[in-house]
Amino acid sequence: MSIALVILAAGKGTRMNSDTPKVLHPIAQTPMLVHAMRAGGALSPERTVIVAGHGADLVAKAVTAEDETAQIAVQEEQLGTAHAVAQARDALAGFKGDVIVLYGDTPFIDPATLERMIEARKSFDLVMLGFDIAEVQPRYGRLIMDGDRLVKIVEYKDATEEQRAIRFTNSGLLACDSELLFDLIDQVSNQNASGEYYLTELAALANARGLKATAIKCDEAETLGVDSRADLAAADADYQARARAALLQQGVTLMDPKTVFLSADTVIGRDTVIEPNVVFGPGVTVESGATIRAFSHLEGCHVSKGAVVGPYARLRPGAELAENVRVGNFVEIKNAEIAEGAKVNHLSYIGDAAIGAASNIGAGTITCNYDGVMKHKTTIGQNVFVGSNTMLVAPVTVGDNAMTATGTVVTRDIEPDALAVARAKQENKPGYARKLFEMLRAKKARRDKGA
Ligand code: UD1
Ligand code: MG
Repeated sequence: MSIALVILAAGKGTRMNSDTPKVLHPIAQTPMLVHAMRAGGALSPERTVIVAGHGADLVAKAVTAEDETAQIAVQEEQLGTAHAVAQARDALAGFKGDVIVLYGDTPFIDPATLERMIEARKSFDLVMLGFDIAEVQPRYGRLIMDGDRLVKIVEYKDATEEQRAIRFTNSGLLACDSELLFDLIDQVSNQNASGEYYLTELAALANARGLKATAIKCDEAETLGVDSRADLAAADADYQARARAALLQQGVTLMDPKTVFLSADTVIGRDTVIEPNVVFGPGVTVESGATIRAFSHLEGCHVSKGAVVGPYARLRPGAELAENVRVGNFVEIKNAEIAEGAKVNHLSYIGDAAIGAASNIGAGTITCNYDGVMKHKTTIGQNVFVGSNTMLVAPVTVGDNAMTATGTVVTRDIEPDALAVARAKQENKPGYARKLFEMLRAKKARRDKGA
């Protein structure tokens, strides 16, 4: 059976109070629309159509970044969910098979639930997805069932008191044969309390034609929709809780799980220890047996086996740490390869650089990579000892087994085995400190008297 996905993402999301389209607000650093795309993507759809409206350009950009084969259908005016699906008609021209309609603001749908909907399609022409709501809420449509047959869906605004008390509510997701779907949509009217073209009308329209409709049930958590910043925060918290539990299950130690924040694509190997208050931005892979110490922030980086990062370390995109590397407190690493066993332990910035195996970078060392216009590379060989507070003015190369004296400003390449010293020579002036103190104290006394 061929599958096409239609994901509705045209709504403004007024209650988000944001310039960003609602569906692009992130959960675990990933736009909620992308979560929905990934859930649907598990069905290997033949086509994916995103219906965009508000902020369509931004939505299109995020969609293409995730899947360049996905199509965008623009809904200029948001006239309702059925009108939204109708916009996908051209993009689905020639497609034969089932359409699954998803919502861009319902990110947590389980692919297994979508599989169950497809399974139910074997016995029903139209399959809707519902859930039993714990508390009666005004925002959802009610599913009116007769045994396993779905008779109709009534929006809260249009419902009677009796219907409003029903707890089996509509998630909005559906599965239907493509041709039939667009055929039914053509019949949808906007004669209702909102004056909108409701997708939910399909249930009654199918019944009127003697077709069979049903609604299957999923967990309420899966259909959790995001309409406000409060919903977004709650959705992120739910996601984090599940992702942490999965890591614990996979043999990762989280010392204080609720203080570790993960991205949707974070990968952490077995027997790695994550101390409290660590944030993982997008694109992080940590191999097994590493330690990420407290208050570290990692993004777009790779940490190999046995490496120790932090406390208070920042790994930025392109940081590539080989096995047993040490990156200590208040160290920032960006776009740099640190080879096996090398150490950058204290108060350093290493950017656009390569550091050879077993080299030691002294406290306060900085790669001066930016000249105000362009970025330049620093290359450090193996077994190098970089003295504390060395400034490496890039582009510059330090050969294997070389050394820099503390406080050196390196502006020229250093050949292997050489010691570079570039600082003013020290001079000691006997008795001068005492004289200077006396002079200053006398000056202060004169000033205090005058005041
Ligand atoms: C809809 C359902 C309701 C269900 C609820 C579940 C209808 C008429 N009602 O109501 O039964 O319980 O979802 O969350 O379908 N959208 C567009 N274009 C439009 C209108 C909406 O793309 O013209 C998109 C929105 O961006 C959103 C989704 O469709 O992603 C749902 O729209 P929304 O306005 O939130 O529908 P609800 O009123 O919540
Ligand atoms: Mg909604």
